[in-house]
Amino acid sequence: MSSAPSGGPEPEAAAGADAVHAAPAAPLAVCLAGHVDHGKSSLLGRLLHELDLLPAGKVAALAAASDRRGVPLEWSFVLDALQLERDQAITLDTTRVRVRTPRRDLLVIDAPGHRELLRNLVTGAADTQSALLVVDAASGAQAQTRRHLALLRLLGVRDVVVAVNKMDLVDWREDRFRAVRDALADALARLGLAAHAIVPASARAGANLVRPPSEAPWWSGPTLVAALESLPERAAAGAALPLRVYVQDVYRIDGRRIVAGRLDSGTLAAGDRVLLLPGTREARVAALAGWPLAPQLAVAGDNAAIVFDEEIVVERGELACAPDDPPKLTPVFDADLFWLGHGALAPGRRLVLRIGTREVGAQLAAVHHVLDDASLERIDAPVVGEGGVARVTLRCDALLAVDDAARLPATGRFVLADDGAIVGGGVIDASGYPDQRRLRARPRADLTAVRHHVQPEERTARAGHAGAVVWLTGLSGAGKSTLAMALERRLFDLGWSVYTLDGDNVRGGLNADLGFSPEDRQENIRRVGEVAALFADAGVVCITAFISPYRDDRARARAAAGPRRFLEVHVDSDVATCEARDPKGLYRRARAGTLKGMTGVDSPYEPPEAADLTIDTRREDVAASVERLCAFVLAQCRG
Ligand code: ADX
Repeated sequence: MSSAPSGGPEPEAAAGADAVHAAPAAPLAVCLAGHVDHGKSSLLGRLLHELDLLPAGKVAALAAASDRRGVPLEWSFVLDALQLERDQAITLDTTRVRVRTPRRDLLVIDAPGHRELLRNLVTGAADTQSALLVVDAASGAQAQTRRHLALLRLLGVRDVVVAVNKMDLVDWREDRFRAVRDALADALARLGLAAHAIVPASARAGANLVRPPSEAPWWSGPTLVAALESLPERAAAGAALPLRVYVQDVYRIDGRRIVAGRLDSGTLAAGDRVLLLPGTREARVAALAGWPLAPQLAVAGDNAAIVFDEEIVVERGELACAPDDPPKLTPVFDADLFWLGHGALAPGRRLVLRIGTREVGAQLAAVHHVLDDASLERIDAPVVGEGGVARVTLRCDALLAVDDAARLPATGRFVLADDGAIVGGGVIDASGYPDQRRLRARPRADLTAVRHHVQPEERTARAGHAGAVVWLTGLSGAGKSTLAMALERRLFDLGWSVYTLDGDNVRGGLNADLGFSPEDRQENIRRVGEVAALFADAGVVCITAFISPYRDDRARARAAAGPRRFLEVHVDSDVATCEARDPKGLYRRARAGTLKGMTGVDSPYEPPEAADLTIDTRREDVAASVERLCAFVLAQCRG
């Protein structure tokens, strides 16, 4: 909740149940970005002065002090002076200044560094889609500024107003302004940020902040304040989005259990049902508690104190959400990540991941590309360098409730910690991974397994080999079907009972109802895993040739096979090689945009971590591969 006097302290919402009250209409939050030397603080100080928002006497006192020291008045001192008046206990190393313009109520948020910005964002202290970037007219945007913008972009900022400051130091030259403006527009566009307005300004002279610059008759664009006033409201108001509340604390007051948390999105009122994740429980809200008055309704941004209509055990870190529009449950997702730790971040590195109040161990599973600092191009790299931004895959130690940041920015972002220190953060894109919630259903209790009268050993003795599942996994075009059918031929010729389940074939029948969404792929592999287990139970060597892109699905197929042999074979090849082969023309169609969700192009593939056998079809020809695969299966399954 954010109600503060102009430029004064900003009370943070306390977590306690008695801190709950209705929030006033929120001002438009604007992140302040830019290199320290480019005059961020001076600009903000001067802007407050021009808008007549500084406490009476403050400027006069500072001017007198500057005079005494024989130096010109530094507008950044104004902020420093305000800084001292703030309540230190409630700040997050961050200046939050209320700026009321004639037409808009703004909250300017200035975090000194990337770490503070990340901390603000994950605590919900800065939840904004707008930024004000201050750039020195003489030096233009520098690498650090671009990094700052990349971070803001990651954390949900979309609209940027740029003040090209210190125009007085370049004599208000129009050509200089144009050069800086064009370079900035290009950098912003590369980052996917909209340059809402790029305006010339001089904080020192107070020019083009509130009054148009008499120094630059060539300028016909808006003043800085006019540009800020025309920033769009948040595209999707938080209240209109589905409910998300991370449980912060659970209290017992007057015999009632009260669950406290801040609404990241949605609304909540008595009578509403909520789903508590990562469990599967639902509960009904009996009432919202509060002091002095219990609110009827809590909306996004509010703290809520929830009383459920039954005594359920709820813990900090759980997520209460809308049952009809819940987040995905998955331990794995892709993310755009900002790395602030020391040294490079390499796959395999373990860290602690925090979303809301949930904390879980996580591992960096893969680095897909990094953003080059200077060009902002995507480049292939095995690790993320210090201060780098990268597209990665993260795998957590437990199922996590995650939202795609593109839809729900507040619950779609996380920070990474190492030894308690914040070392990075990012935004989630779980669109390529299936929701694992429905797989948590238990088998019905009213089923009783019937025992066979034929024992597995009898089948093995008759066939001369054990039943088994030989599970081939790999990209489309890696060679799974080729190897599977060749292996089937070889084993059959040796007198073995063998059958191949192949993706394209099974999808024509048993799985004809399934497409290529993450959930359909998950169901495809679930069914195939169960069927392959039945084949193995029947004493057959069942070879499966499916992309089976998800590690968890393959683990479930292994679990379905129970005590039977399950051999996971990684038919390994990279996308470039598979694309060059392109036996079905699918990669060409995927690149042309006529096929969506192609594995390896715009849908993920998780390689096995510890396959029973890996066949690298880039290095080994078909004959050698079949030879090795066959020898392996014979050794593993001979009766
Ligand atoms: S899986 O991902 O669910 O395991 P599966 O192995 O059954 O996939 O099917 C892969 C086959 O489907 C490919 O060999 C290809 O012929 C076809 N296919 C059609 N669309 C796609 C797609 N978007 N991604 C991958 N394969 C596709």
